[in-house]
Amino acid sequence: MTTVWSLYVSVLTLATLVGLTWLLLSTRKGQREDTTEETVGHAFDGIEEYDNPLPKWWFWLFVGTLVFAVGYLVLYPGLGNWRGILPGYSYLDNANKTEFATGDTGWTGVHEWEKEMARANARFGPLYAKYAAMPVEAVAQDAKALKMGARLFANNCSVCHGSDAKGAYGFPNLTDDVWRWGGEPEAIKTSIMNGRHGVMPGWAAVIGEQGVADVSAFVLTGLNNRQLPQGVSADGDKGQAIFATTCVACHGAQGKGTPMLGAPDLTRPDAFIYGSSFAQLQQTIRYGRQGQMPAQAPLQGNDKVHVLAAYVYSLSHPRQEAADGQ
Ligand code: HEC
Ligand code: HEC
Repeated sequence: MTTVWSLYVSVLTLATLVGLTWLLLSTRKGQREDTTEETVGHAFDGIEEYDNPLPKWWFWLFVGTLVFAVGYLVLYPGLGNWRGILPGYSYLDNANKTEFATGDTGWTGVHEWEKEMARANARFGPLYAKYAAMPVEAVAQDAKALKMGARLFANNCSVCHGSDAKGAYGFPNLTDDVWRWGGEPEAIKTSIMNGRHGVMPGWAAVIGEQGVADVSAFVLTGLNNRQLPQGVSADGDKGQAIFATTCVACHGAQGKGTPMLGAPDLTRPDAFIYGSSFAQLQQTIRYGRQGQMPAQAPLQGNDKVHVLAAYVYSLSHPRQEAADGQ
């Protein structure tokens, strides 16, 4: 904050406090000490205003909030550039010799959060490290690890994949047997670590509007075994020819997909994330799609991602309850 803004904020805040104090004391002056039956003469809807003093408890509560405000502004950063007199470093920070990103040393919400994180890492880090040294399948059998994974998932993944991990429009279901990028433990971990970017080009300019309709008809009837809606003019056979030249490179000759490219299995419409109706297929094929899974390595680090991968793996490979009786 520049000095000008700092001054502006400080003066405004202090003036408000002083003003409130003045208001409180000045309106109290001249007030009678005891209660009365006298009214000040205002009446509305049969409600009359008595000329009574403020209740004592109310007055002192107000004074209390003013004192609290002053105390707070001395201790914590709140007045412009004033840092507050509370120290920001704790034994933890010094033990780890960590510098805060912002470089300053006072109390801030960011520092408190950083300390919280450092404390959590010191406490749970070794546990995560233990799991990270085990194969994903083994971690997926550990009830405690799965509980940790479920919490991480709820905090970091459920916004997109849903709290039940069953996905939503544009976000894949992680509990079924269909994978866009591969369902092996290592493939799942790579998806989470590095993120994924599915690139399905748009084809309108290449095969034309009729071509889009024809190839959509082929996906619907030829690959998905379903009926074309009434009254559309689209030729599934012509669509098959287009598929053979235009789509096989990514989706494969049988339409079963290529995990390396994130090109989905087109024979599993139940797992389509952009919809499987004739209209939705045309929309996808006409304009293309760009699904983005954000990389978690920079946010979570390897060990947490390992536990997350185990949790995701366990959703389609449930833990054997009887194995250890937990
Ligand atoms: C360059 C590789 C590539 C080619 C060529 C390609 N696709 Fe795709 N396709 C993809 C990828 C990658 C995705 C996943 C996009 C995403 O996840 O956002 C995809 C997604 C789709 C989907 C959506 C599936 C869903 O989950 O909703 C359909 C339908 C589809 N492609 C059909 C076709 C058809 C028909 C053609 C030929 C006209 C074609 N694709 C050509 C790579 C390709
Ligand atoms: C911002 C939304 C978003 C968040 C947050 C997110 N994902 Fe994803 N994720 C996606 C999208 C979109 C895809 C599909 C990418 C594509 O089109 O190929 C995906 C794909 C995946 C895949 C690959 C699925 C497959 O079929 O191969 C896995 C595994 C996955 N996410 C796990 C996670 C986990 C675990 C987290 C939490 C750490 C997470 N995701 C957080 C959007 C998200």
